[in-house]
Amino acid sequence: MVLFGGTGDLAMRKLLPALFQAHVAGSLHPQGRIVALGRRDWRTEDYLAQVQAESGPHLKADFSSPQWAGFAARLTYLKLDASQAADFDALAALLGTTASRVTVCYLATAPSLFEPICTQLARVGLNHPGVRVVLEKPLGHDVESSESINAAVARSFAESQLYRIDHYLGKESVQNLMAIRFGNVLFEPLWRREWVDNVQITIAEDIGVEGRGEFYDKTGALRDMVQNHLLQLLCMVAMEPPASLQADAIRDEKLKVLKALRPFAEADVAAKTVRGQYRAGAVDGKPVIGYLQEADIAADSRTETFVALKAEIINWRWAGVPFFLRTGKRMPERLAEIVISFRAVPLSLFGGPAGLQGANRLVIRLQPEESISLHFLSKEPGDGMRLHPTQLDLDVEATARKRRADAYERLLLDVIRGELGLFMRRDELDAAWRWVEPILECWRRSGEAPKPYTAGTWGPAASSALLSRDGAAWHEEI
Ligand code: BG6
Repeated sequence: MVLFGGTGDLAMRKLLPALFQAHVAGSLHPQGRIVALGRRDWRTEDYLAQVQAESGPHLKADFSSPQWAGFAARLTYLKLDASQAADFDALAALLGTTASRVTVCYLATAPSLFEPICTQLARVGLNHPGVRVVLEKPLGHDVESSESINAAVARSFAESQLYRIDHYLGKESVQNLMAIRFGNVLFEPLWRREWVDNVQITIAEDIGVEGRGEFYDKTGALRDMVQNHLLQLLCMVAMEPPASLQADAIRDEKLKVLKALRPFAEADVAAKTVRGQYRAGAVDGKPVIGYLQEADIAADSRTETFVALKAEIINWRWAGVPFFLRTGKRMPERLAEIVISFRAVPLSLFGGPAGLQGANRLVIRLQPEESISLHFLSKEPGDGMRLHPTQLDLDVEATARKRRADAYERLLLDVIRGELGLFMRRDELDAAWRWVEPILECWRRSGEAPKPYTAGTWGPAASSALLSRDGAAWHEEI
């Protein structure tokens, strides 16, 4: 495993902790090695000290555990400057170019370096069939830049060697959603427009831009979260049963969903999207500053930190069912969930208090904990015939089971095993950008500023209004 950007934030916060967990769980090959690359003139000992300091706080297991020595022995640091061809020769000499060896090159770098890195890897023979390349987001800024990255990378590697990562697909409940849908007959007949009233997908974060102001201000929530994570989750909910679990069978079905998304026309953008930007407020009882006061943010920035939108999939299964997508920074809590709301019964026999509308829902929670629960109505015990909401945890066994691998850990192990099913294919990425781009373009042309919302709230009021026009409400409002 070769980590380009080995001293960077992603490597320290996510990749090394994930690899350490995999090591502790015994999931790594005994001879597996990790080569971390960076521009600093460090020895491996310096790097290890840095890893302990920076990755330690992100670990569930403890770096002081007896396992650390074994993990540290797998790590080597190598100085590499992506603009220096000779550094790649040194890398090839260290790794060897034996085609039978699986070599994973994880590009946790700025996308502008993808092309030079891939070209150099190919030049030194590190594009043999045993080499897999993991590409981190952001994969482009729009259709054109994403196409140009993909074309550049394709000059050195075959599509089957490319792993475009979306860590949301590594979350266990997303995979469990597939298991529940396609491993049982129970849900599949209900999984369609006749029985589903609406689908909501929320990824709320309590954090702000966390020192990433420079990147974030150029990016915004639509590019940062909707184009990738939210659309990938939408595909997992909406796709047809694949013919097999082979990567392309799954990816073909996801692509069909992306292609069936109703394109946004100018009038739709105003009516069906809401963008917001947080102002000072309080999260978890602590005061926080507004977006415009964060470091590296332009004083008159119009970048959105919140998006809610109504997506529609125009195919036989889903026509007419709104898919409400929402994401935001500085929301009241860290919460990621998919809520499938089934239609109300045609006739209410039992009456009962308001609040029962929350029943008939399947809630797939990705964060803060992973769970799948079915909310429905049953008889309140005792005298009379009153209903009350009940919740069935469909994941009890898994909850009771041992440790769950974290998303990055699971996806890294998939790359090592050569399983592409949970990674995005080039055409999927392209279709996602093509759907998102007109929204960005309309927002830009409208010249309107995003709607303000107070940090620690669920976004601008227009977000609730978006759903109420369809007679729906966000899950937490019920
Ligand atoms: C990343 C975004 O892709 O996902 C970040 O760039 C965001 O802005 C993060 O904070 C959220 O991931 P998670 O797994 O912490 O919910």
